[in-house]
Amino acid sequence: MNLKGRNFITLKDYSPEEIGYLLELASDLKAKKKQGITGNSLKGKNIALIFEKPSTRTRCSFVVAAVDEGAHPEYLGKDDIQLGHKESVEDTARVLGRVFDGIEFRGFKHKTVEDLAKYAGVPVWNGLTDDYHPTQILADLLTMKEHFGYLKGLRFVYAGDGRNNMANSLMIGMSKMGVHFTILAPESLWPKNELVELCQGYAAESGSTITLTEDTDAVKDADTIYTDVWCSMGEEDKAAQRITLLKPYQVNKELMEKTGKDTTIFMHCLPAVKGNEVTEEVFESGASVVFDEAENRMHTIKAVMVATLGE
Ligand code: CP
Ligand code: NVA
Repeated sequence: MNLKGRNFITLKDYSPEEIGYLLELASDLKAKKKQGITGNSLKGKNIALIFEKPSTRTRCSFVVAAVDEGAHPEYLGKDDIQLGHKESVEDTARVLGRVFDGIEFRGFKHKTVEDLAKYAGVPVWNGLTDDYHPTQILADLLTMKEHFGYLKGLRFVYAGDGRNNMANSLMIGMSKMGVHFTILAPESLWPKNELVELCQGYAAESGSTITLTEDTDAVKDADTIYTDVWCSMGEEDKAAQRITLLKPYQVNKELMEKTGKDTTIFMHCLPAVKGNEVTEEVFESGASVVFDEAENRMHTIKAVMVATLGE
């Protein structure tokens, strides 16, 4: 599989086989790292890490993954560069593309990462935008694969803000990989029709299904219950309204028991607001695999960089 020179903007651009390949590569890199073996695949490469929004997992994963493979990562915070202040995205992209070998971008508008990719001339990786968070999905798929041993046919329910970057990206990733996907959310927070239709096409090809529902009974038989914050970065003013709207969709012991399975796992991209989208009890329970997901961010981000930029 040759992914050299490719951008990583959303999983729409990657086939199920390519996603499978990235998961295998991540698994391999993870096993090697556990034995103390790191590589030289990115030796001599310089990597720009642009962050308009804060980050713990994504930033640290890119830095450690880059260093593990011999690259130099350079963190560029929102007030550190001219982007968005004195310089257009197009010009910043052309400058950084002359200086760096790869560029990660986390920020607000999805169009910014698309424009960076269009003009930089080097691989651009999406570290989260208002609309998508594709590197997180690789970590989530790897975590599920490690836990269950397979992906195809698993039943996945996402409860909460059903139209945020996580819900959108999970719907793409799960439908491509043959995982039955349900959005459990009030209708006002369902994903855009256009994206649902696109993912229904992926699901038809992979043999999975997509369900949108307001009914918590839909968690019956779920293998995974996933949630994310009710207010994403940049939406802090919506807190009161979201709490009222989403309270019935909190992941608590009762919702976990409603699956009728004692093998259901709880997942969350983190950071979590305990007491809102998930109770402390579920978060700390044996069903919770949230820190496996967090660790897997590093191994999967490393796989993306090695596959698209590595020697
Ligand atoms: N899950 C995730 O992207 O975490 P950070 O915001 O800490 O990077
Ligand atoms: N939906 C969250 C994800 C954080 C990793 C946000 O955008 O803030």
